[in-house]
Amino acid sequence: MSTIISDSEAWKSLHSHKRSVIDSTHLRDLLQDEDRCKTMSVSHGDITLDYSRTQMVLETPDLLCNLARAANLEQKISHMSQGKAINETEGRSVLHMALRAPKTSQIVVNGEDVIPSVHAVLEKVQIFSEKVRNGEWLGCTGKPLTTIVAIGIGGSYLGPEFVYEALRTDEVASTQASGRTLRFVANVDPVDAARALHGVDAETTLVIIVSKTFTTAETMLNAQTVKNWLLKSIPGGDADCITRQHMIAVSTAIEKATAFGIDPNNIFGFWEWVGGRYSVCSAVGIVPLALHYGFNIMESFLSGAHDMDKHYTTAPLRENIPVMLALVGLWNSSFMGYNSRAILPYAQALVRFAAHIQQVDMESNGKRVDMNGNILPFEAGEIVFGEPGTNGQHSFYQLLHQGRVVPAEFIGFCKSPSPVTVEGAPVSNHDELMCNFFAQPDALACGKTIAELKAEGVPENLIPHKEFPGNRPSLTLLFPELNAFTCGQLLALYEHRVAVQGFVWGLNSFDQWGVELGKALAGTVRNSLRTARADGISGIAGFNPSTTALLKKYLGK
Ligand code: F6P
Repeated sequence: MSTIISDSEAWKSLHSHKRSVIDSTHLRDLLQDEDRCKTMSVSHGDITLDYSRTQMVLETPDLLCNLARAANLEQKISHMSQGKAINETEGRSVLHMALRAPKTSQIVVNGEDVIPSVHAVLEKVQIFSEKVRNGEWLGCTGKPLTTIVAIGIGGSYLGPEFVYEALRTDEVASTQASGRTLRFVANVDPVDAARALHGVDAETTLVIIVSKTFTTAETMLNAQTVKNWLLKSIPGGDADCITRQHMIAVSTAIEKATAFGIDPNNIFGFWEWVGGRYSVCSAVGIVPLALHYGFNIMESFLSGAHDMDKHYTTAPLRENIPVMLALVGLWNSSFMGYNSRAILPYAQALVRFAAHIQQVDMESNGKRVDMNGNILPFEAGEIVFGEPGTNGQHSFYQLLHQGRVVPAEFIGFCKSPSPVTVEGAPVSNHDELMCNFFAQPDALACGKTIAELKAEGVPENLIPHKEFPGNRPSLTLLFPELNAFTCGQLLALYEHRVAVQGFVWGLNSFDQWGVELGKALAGTVRNSLRTARADGISGIAGFNPSTTALLKKYLGK
């Protein structure tokens, strides 16, 4: 019997449900049904997910839950939380939930409870970050270290940067970060390091090299570049003191980090069962963010993520926010045929959220085979992009309203971290933001008809241009406010959404073989460029004519 989910009756019945029921509906009408709207709202604490603006009728969520059951979703979630090796192609457990589990919990992997080692690293981070923040740990010239430069790429950068930005305007976090600076270097483009180091005083800088493998080419080159900058910029230039006092590392590859010159005492470890893109809650995120904001802020962030983990692992499917979020995404992509999705936080502080979720989602579910290697007869994964509102409205929303159909996710907060009311303005600035947050989903769903345009006296020739077809799906996530705790909840919510979609599609969301080929080819180009720079153009060999010509042009030959 085939295990491909699209062969299941549950999958087939969703396709026929779409054809026989959904295709003749319009969101404009569906939204008039109060009972339907009520059933398409799920809450957890003060968080609400409203998916009534998706092209579904009352029975659609039940059919989606049947699909989830046909995919053994509940069993897969439970295997994940128990530490089973669900990343089968790499023989690994997937335990980012353990990173935020309380000390009293127990998760056994290969006969060993991982929780004590998680908390041992957290304690080490707490002690170290407090020493740096209170000036007990000084640089080589006796100055306190107030600037943190975190070097890392992909999962060793995007999550920490998202959280850094999210908390920059939080009252408590920003007060605790006062007088401190955190910068990131990710791109191997030397411009990234140049910008990050611009105006920075090496004598007061602590550099963190963040790399799970400690082999990523970009990070290794940036690490050496920044190390050279430290050695050149700190008066006295005692290399041992500089690497000991000004450089630390976060990695699973302790030996490699030590070989680079980092003092083993200054290496914060994590484990192979933490995927790079799921590593924000490990030392990858907690070290730089605790140094900047204080350890207590990161504890609150971890508690928020754990709170969402508990909800995810215990709530029934229909009341489970990550599960319903994922099933809505599955419905839109696998049955309605929409291949992309926009993440639209109405919160400037979430400016890097979409960038982080792009990696979490697309590196996880951008796959073409199932766990057993069978080619999937459907396209999995979604193209994810996004920008904070209202900025996006003045950029790409034109396409969302009148061009292609792109399911949208509106994320909003009841309270602003920076409340302002301008005298004479009809509403506060945050209310103004939220007016747009509430208006846009209805504009997408209901549109504007030819009859309405005619009634407004719109000239005949402009009617086709001004018509909004509507029937464009979106969902709304409303949080009370953005702080360290809710930021942790939001992160975990999206991590679990991705896992659920992968579980139902039947693929492995936790490997990333697709990034390897490009890396290997870059190595071949590197060897050729090195030879060509030293010995001339004859070094350019073994490429197709197009690449050969481009390389020659690049070399100016
Ligand atoms: O791009 C591939 C990748 O392996 C990501 O999965 C990972 O987050 C990133 O590179 C960085 O890897 P590392 O932390 O090992 O430097």
